[in-house]
Amino acid sequence: MDYLYDIKNISKVYGEGTGTTVAINSMDLQIESGKFVTILGPSGSGKSTLLNIIGGLDTPTSGDVLFLGENISEYKPRMLAKFRREHIGFVFQNYNLLPNLTALENVEFSTEIRGLTKENAKDALELLNLGNRMHHYPTELSGGEQQRVSIARAIAKNPKVLLCDEPTGALDNKTGIVALKILRNLNKTLGTSIVLITHNKEISKMSDIVVKLLNGEIVERYHIESPLSPDDIEW
Ligand SMILES: Nc1ncnc2c1ncn2[C@@H]1O[C@H](COP(=O)(O)OP(=O)(O)OP(=O)(O)O)[C@@H](O)[C@H]1O
Ligand SMILES: [Mg+2]
Repeated sequence: MDYLYDIKNISKVYGEGTGTTVAINSMDLQIESGKFVTILGPSGSGKSTLLNIIGGLDTPTSGDVLFLGENISEYKPRMLAKFRREHIGFVFQNYNLLPNLTALENVEFSTEIRGLTKENAKDALELLNLGNRMHHYPTELSGGEQQRVSIARAIAKNPKVLLCDEPTGALDNKTGIVALKILRNLNKTLGTSIVLITHNKEISKMSDIVVKLLNGEIVERYHIESPLSPDDIEW
């Protein structure tokens, strides 16, 4: 069986000479399709770097990343862009909304490239309770609302994999739980694989697999037999 991801001995080194930072250090990780994975670890432990590499936004300095058996670390930028477009929904730590587009246009931008309709974009925004914010520009939205637009944008194109970098960081408990429920639901009903970064150990209790990073290395990896429902998480 091909794994969704088979990560083989990857390292990511930033900079050169004496100013180098090893963000990922000889890491191996396998992720099965359809799983909900959370990544825990302190600031600077390499979480975003790992997510960017498996999402095809960055390439490892050495090692291989196999996606369904395909070595994406050998891809040229054009192939990587195609890979991201076809398979990956990304929720960024800093939202990354396009400032000159409204909420709806931001979401449409991602559905259009996948050949989906305007309705897909509207549905996704409504799912995130943003029906009355569709025509607002990012600067007219609160941080939490922008974060929800970025979640809507990632899920609207119905990707095979959702990669989420602290998706609840800017949300209060109630809105955070709504967002987590939506993600959990997509995972359960459509089988969308999810890799989610969080600082919050409680949130990791609703995932199937927990991976803990420290200094660019995996220090712990465990399965959860009965993940909690988002309602039962104590924030
Ligand atoms: N573009 C870059 N150039 C140089 N160093 C970088 C770059 N990006 C990340 N780093 C370094 O790599 C290490 C890992 O960074 P990364 O962003 O992956 O951490 P993180 O676990 O996501 O942290 P946080 O929880 O604060 O978001 C850090 O030491 C960081 O300073
Ligand atoms: Mg980060």
